[in-house]
Amino acid sequence: MSKVPTLRLDRLLANMGYGSRREVQSLVNAGLVTLDGAEVEDADQRIAVTRDLSERMRIQDKPLDPPPGLALMLHKPLGVTCSHKEAGPLVYGLLPDRWRRRDPAISTIGRLDKDTSGLLLMTDDGNLLHRVISPRANISKRYRVDLDRPLRGDEAEIFASGTLMLESEDKPLLPALMEAISETSAYLTLTEGRYHQVRRMFAAVGNHVAALHRDRIGGLSLPEDLGPGQYRLLGEADLALLLPPATGA
Ligand code: URA
Repeated sequence: MSKVPTLRLDRLLANMGYGSRREVQSLVNAGLVTLDGAEVEDADQRIAVTRDLSERMRIQDKPLDPPPGLALMLHKPLGVTCSHKEAGPLVYGLLPDRWRRRDPAISTIGRLDKDTSGLLLMTDDGNLLHRVISPRANISKRYRVDLDRPLRGDEAEIFASGTLMLESEDKPLLPALMEAISETSAYLTLTEGRYHQVRRMFAAVGNHVAALHRDRIGGLSLPEDLGPGQYRLLGEADLALLLPPATGA
């Protein structure tokens, strides 16, 4: 079993965006931080950073934000960018303000284009991020693709071949699974994530992607009741669906 990390309370809360250490000290002095129902007396008290801390600690009578080690799924809407610094609306703007001041920072696990919607994972846990994006993890991602032109009929075979070469690349794509939904729409499941991969794959077979939406990563699906712009935290069961057993959560 891994050891539970401990942190000084003022450091923990400052890292979670609740203010400077001095400001956290003021909150403690004002009796506004409670743990298991009792006021915390010392801002330098060491706290075990357990998953259930949000249920046990309250700040100004509100549950503590999720402690470090958080992972979430976001239904990324169209028109929002997966970047910390580009101009225009960013995915981070969809999270509570305080979460944007956290250290370690929350980052996206991989990216979706501005014009792609759907399932986007985010975490402040570097280990989890690497386990998910590592090519060795071989985690599949499924996209629903709407096309400008009807499918020709040979796309599934070409995508499954493992020989398709995208323009200006020197390595063929890994085999991908395409399942037609209609004449002009399909699911495409990939196990790698090259730049604009889905759009470039369909361009390579003479088509054009009109709309792109990711609905699944590994065994984790975007829930129907999670609307565009909404997010929810991932629990152990979600992580078990996401990560294959060999690297399991
Ligand atoms: N492929 C694309 O072309 N865009 C995405 O956002 C994801 C996969």
